[in-house]
Amino acid sequence: MTLDRRDLLVRTGLLVGAGALAAAGCRSDEEARTAGAAKGLDTWAGVQASFELDRRGAQLSTFLLAPHPRPVRDAIAEHRHRLDADTASYLQDEEERLEAELLQAAAAYLAVAPEELAATGSTTMGLGLLYATLALGPREEIVTTEHDFYSTHEALRLRAEATGAAVRRIRLYVEPATASEDAIVEAIRAAVTPRTRAVALTWVHSSTGVKLPIRAIADALAERDAELGKPPTLVCVDAVHGFGVEPEPLAELGCHFLVSGCHKWLFGPRGTGIVWGRADSWADVRPTIPSFTDRESFQAWLRMREPSAPTSASAFTPGGFHAFEHRWALADAFAFRQEIGRERAAERTRALAGRLKDGLTDIPGLVVRTPLDARLSSGLVCCDVPSATSSPEAFVHELREDHGVIASLTPYATRYLRFGPSIANSEAEVDRALEAVRQLAGR
Ligand SMILES: Cc1ncc(COP(=O)(O)O)c(C=O)c1O
Repeated sequence: MTLDRRDLLVRTGLLVGAGALAAAGCRSDEEARTAGAAKGLDTWAGVQASFELDRRGAQLSTFLLAPHPRPVRDAIAEHRHRLDADTASYLQDEEERLEAELLQAAAAYLAVAPEELAATGSTTMGLGLLYATLALGPREEIVTTEHDFYSTHEALRLRAEATGAAVRRIRLYVEPATASEDAIVEAIRAAVTPRTRAVALTWVHSSTGVKLPIRAIADALAERDAELGKPPTLVCVDAVHGFGVEPEPLAELGCHFLVSGCHKWLFGPRGTGIVWGRADSWADVRPTIPSFTDRESFQAWLRMREPSAPTSASAFTPGGFHAFEHRWALADAFAFRQEIGRERAAERTRALAGRLKDGLTDIPGLVVRTPLDARLSSGLVCCDVPSATSSPEAFVHELREDHGVIASLTPYATRYLRFGPSIANSEAEVDRALEAVRQLAGR
């Protein structure tokens, strides 16, 4: 590949177009909500109409992989059209502006600096990159929990296999429904020893629907580190089932690294994700995949020398060309969410999840496993599969085929029936799911 000067500037991020400064994220929340109202997003029916979901069924598993709302579909179509018409010119003319806009829109939504964000393709990609290189001293360890997903456990197992790094798993609760904030915080605090370099946690457990009190955990760990007189324990969080639901600004969570896909509850383009690191935490990881946007490494390569700068979010951002029509439409997803409003979306999701949990609790013999308390839960709702069923898979199949209710099973050793009511759903869809479970459980 030969690069002309403009290619080079684009690749190395030296060229910042004026357009980048007018990124979607520069609007105030109030301006965004006014724009949203003009598009009908001030009613939940209007938000639901943004999705092309097949409403013959009650789609209660959109968190698995996002259906695209209208602004995201439109943006993808526009970028795809431009790329198909003249790929090279679109890249040369617009790539640096669109890359900057996506980071700006993400940063505005998350209330962090764009320089602290790396764009990835999924949660799993972000976790893999993070845990592959997180700096560990010779006798240091990473503590994780029994409740995390495969992506965290496997990334840590591969790290241990490659480097001999020590990884320890702890349990935070036995019965999810009665999990307690104090007990969770204490379990993590008690697990930290002078050797603990990092804790690898998941914000909302996709195994149970339990939401961890990340801020309280981070505060307790800071205290514990001070008692032990050791460097900070890095708090690393797989945030994917809270991201796009929970309203608090990212920096208020108190973690050091937060990893998320944008293609679940956020309803961003499929195949997008982010890693956020505190400005002073990026030095604790190394890039794995060569970055196309990092000026340091690319410039160093051009000059045939070694890059000397510490890791930045930009250097951590995997390079190679991407499915750009999806990647760049991420800015529109954040703008869409700003137009709906974070608090409003959080309240709506909680209300629907609460309605579902209350209804499931009323079904005789059915045990709801996700805490009823909104402080310890989010949008995910898990319950036992009714015992009269031949298999969990058969139950989910019957829900879909006989009742048009799209649910899922937790992909863990203990299998729960799992729903994820979201801003794309109505109360009627939740009630339909309840009626279906009631009928099937009562056979
Ligand atoms: C907790 C958790 N993390 C990560 C993932 C994977 O997300 P992604 O598809 O963005 O890699 C899942 C499920 O898909 C999950 O439940």
